[in-house]
Amino acid sequence: MLTLGIETSCDETALAVYDPEHGIIAEAIYSQIDLHAMYGGVVPELASRDHCQKILPLLENNILNTVDIQDIQLIAYTAGPGLGGALLIGESFAQGLAIALNLPLIGVNHLEGHLQAPFLNQNEVRHPLLTLLVSGGHSMIIDVADLGQYTILGESRDDAVGEAFDKVAKLLDLRYPGGPEIEKLAQNGELGVFNFPIPLADKDTFDMSFSGLKTSVLYALQDIKTPSDQDKANIAIAFQEAATSALAKKVHKALTHTKRPLLVCTGGVAANKVLRSKLTEIAKNCAAEILFPELKHCTDNAAMIAYVGYLRRKEASRSFQSIVKSRWPLKTLSSIHG
Ligand code: KG4
Ligand code: ZN
Repeated sequence: MLTLGIETSCDETALAVYDPEHGIIAEAIYSQIDLHAMYGGVVPELASRDHCQKILPLLENNILNTVDIQDIQLIAYTAGPGLGGALLIGESFAQGLAIALNLPLIGVNHLEGHLQAPFLNQNEVRHPLLTLLVSGGHSMIIDVADLGQYTILGESRDDAVGEAFDKVAKLLDLRYPGGPEIEKLAQNGELGVFNFPIPLADKDTFDMSFSGLKTSVLYALQDIKTPSDQDKANIAIAFQEAATSALAKKVHKALTHTKRPLLVCTGGVAANKVLRSKLTEIAKNCAAEILFPELKHCTDNAAMIAYVGYLRRKEASRSFQSIVKSRWPLKTLSSIHG
């Protein structure tokens, strides 16, 4: 069953086709990064308009050049969480295609997409496991008993870690999205010149907090007044160290607590190499395996949406009511075993 996945929840217009026998057979993404860069974050209205303009050419030029539209049997689209207007563009496009091609469609939870992305290139979905989901909107430690059985053990009480990377990048005059920029700048930094405290790190909770960390960076910059490039690099490495250590500490605690045999890290911040190496070490110490999605499937993409749509294909329908939800907590999802 070839499944077309459609992702428009934020600032990436993405399409992909999943084939259960061969995996992802076509994939295209158009990033709006340049459109939003000057604003230091995503502008929802601009995002919706751009999705509207890019989605059809993306399908025609980058997907239908390798896949025959008549071979598609299911349409999966991100129905939430995300920017309301942007999600509606994806849903309307999915519905239009479903009507034209007489196909069933399914609205997929974007977070569940991130959770299952590591299994895209595996022969099987493996449960149970512990997942660290770290993106621009979420920082969560989730116990995954089975597909659809998600228990959130801990999450950020304020900013998501990706959001903190983005905000600190702005303070350092770096481009949006900040994560990759900070990682690059940190390579020139010296560890230990700055030390930022890690809120909640030693508290007896799996919850995390990142907004205080961002404020510490702000105060450090204010103290220096005119920071040199080296100061900025030293701050970048100190921030990255504090943020990734905060995540690693909580994951270690959760893995020790749950004793899950598999640790998965997914979401945009999972692209960070320092975080990857810290988590790899933790998994080794806890005798657990570790799995990351391919780099291109860490950040937003449609492959993960097509994949979850396929896994949940029994829930597909021919109803054309809007089910878009800006907020759609994981805990409200059902298990696929009913
Ligand atoms: O999953 P994603 O593409 O979109 C959301 O659903 O939020 O994640 C985007 C976030 C941004 O905050 C970006 O700065 C962060 O992931 N990110 C990184 C890295 N690459 C992307 N953070 C740290 N290090 C990176 N290499
Ligand atoms: Zn995402």
